[in-house]
Amino acid sequence: MNLLKGKTVLITGAARGIGRAIAKKCAMEGANVAFTDIRIEDSFTSLEKELNEMGIKAKGYAFDASNYEASQTSVEKIIADFETIDVLVNNAGITRDSLLMRMTEEQWDAVLTVNLKSVFNMTKAVQKPMLKQKCGSIINISSVVGVGGNPGQANYSASKAGMIGFSKSIAKELGARNIRCNAIAPGFIMTDMTDTLSTEIKESWYAKIPMKRGGTPDEVANAVVFLGSDLSSYTTGQVIHVCGGMQM
Ligand code: NAI
Repeated sequence: MNLLKGKTVLITGAARGIGRAIAKKCAMEGANVAFTDIRIEDSFTSLEKELNEMGIKAKGYAFDASNYEASQTSVEKIIADFETIDVLVNNAGITRDSLLMRMTEEQWDAVLTVNLKSVFNMTKAVQKPMLKQKCGSIINISSVVGVGGNPGQANYSASKAGMIGFSKSIAKELGARNIRCNAIAPGFIMTDMTDTLSTEIKESWYAKIPMKRGGTPDEVANAVVFLGSDLSSYTTGQVIHVCGGMQM
């Protein structure tokens, strides 16, 4: 299939996990892929190589998406290299879990800055080129805990809920200009982020999920293909849950 043929997709935090699956799925659908991560490691270099071997144009950019200046200058470089950015996927994210009683200011600031400020930085940077193109799709990877909350994740839940409010506001601001903005709320997805949890905790999550299993990064990437492609041309300001029914 070629659902994204002719489009350039920019994905933050794509060297591993969900972002990596999104990058590969978009390439499979014919998109050119610009991806970012905070530093160049083996996974970063190998992704760039794997994507280029798929016959599309692909390039990685190393910078901290929570840094405003770095985000603006990097997006300028990406535009110079790819000419357009049709789809932005704000995927970079971190956790610093702790009950509020023990949560430090650093844990709060780190999560809000990486998860939420990066979305402002990157969306602001792509706004002008998307306005010029008269089209665009912005996809923010939120979480079910941004909708339902989770003990021990007040910082993370607040950042993910913030992404939803941001998405709806941008959908209202830019809808008339044919720029769409939606959020995806994944549930329990099996990546490095969730691999740190004990088997016991994982099993307890699975028990609470109607589909009785965790999701795969590819299952989240499929929703990104829908929102990035013209299949979703009349969908904006929505939160699509990819969670096996965990949040209804
Ligand atoms: P991960 O930890 O495997 O990957 C996150 C990537 O973001 C890493 O490559 C990391 O280097 C990069 N990154 C971190 N800080 C960055 C920064 N400042 N600038 C640029 N890149 C940065 O995480 P995973 O599981 O793939 O999660 C991806 C997104 O999906 C995150 O936003 C996460 O909150 C969200 N999510 C994940 C769920 C899960 O169960 N794994 C569930 C719901 C949402």
